[in-house]
Amino acid sequence: MKLKLVFVLVTALALASCGGEKPKKDAPAGSLDEKKTEAVTDADPMSNKGIGPISSVTLGEIDQAMVTEGEAVFKAKCTACHKISKKFVGPALKGVTQRRTPEWIMNMTLNPEEMIAKDPIAKQLLAEANGAPMANQNITEEEARALLEYFRTKN
Ligand code: HEC
Repeated sequence: MKLKLVFVLVTALALASCGGEKPKKDAPAGSLDEKKTEAVTDADPMSNKGIGPISSVTLGEIDQAMVTEGEAVFKAKCTACHKISKKFVGPALKGVTQRRTPEWIMNMTLNPEEMIAKDPIAKQLLAEANGAPMANQNITEEEARALLEYFRTKN
C-alpha cells in the first residue's frame, strides 16, 4: 500500500516537472519582460511630463530666493531618503534637471503615489529602489517649484 503511494507520487512529480519545462522550450527569444524594459528605456525621458497637477513650467534665470527656500524644504522633507550626490533610499538628485523635465520633477514631488503606479520612468525607479516607494511629503506647489529651482543649481 505504502509503496504504491510513493510510486504514484513519483510519477505525478515527474509529469509535473515535464509539464513545467515545456513552455520554456517553446518561448520566443525575447520574453515579455525584456520587451517591457526595452520600451521604458527607449522612451525619451525629456518628452515625459509625468502625471499630476503640473502641466507646464517656464524656466528663467536662476532665482536665488527660490533656491534658498528650496534648499530649506529639501533639508526638512527630502533628506530622510535623498542625498544630492549619492544614491540613498532614493536616487541621487544631482543632475536630475538634465534627465527629467521640470514638470515631471514637480509631479513626482507632489504626486508620488500615482507616479510610481502609472508613470513608466517612476515605475522603473521603484523597481531599482527594490520596491521602496517615495512617500508623499504634502508639499505645496510653491515649495515644489522652489525645490526644482534648487535642483537646477545641482548639476
Ligand atoms: C520615504 C523616502 C523618500 C522621501 C521622504 C522622498 N523621496 Fe523622492 N524618491 C524616493 C524613492 C525610493 C525614489 C525612487 C522611486 C520610488 O522607488 O518610489 C524617489 C524618486 C524621486 C525623484 C526622481 C529621481 C530621478 O532620478 O528621476 C525625485 C525628483 C524625487 N524623488 C524628489 C523628492 C523630493 C523633492 C522629496 C522631498 C519633498 C522627496 N523626493 C522625498 C524616496 C523618497
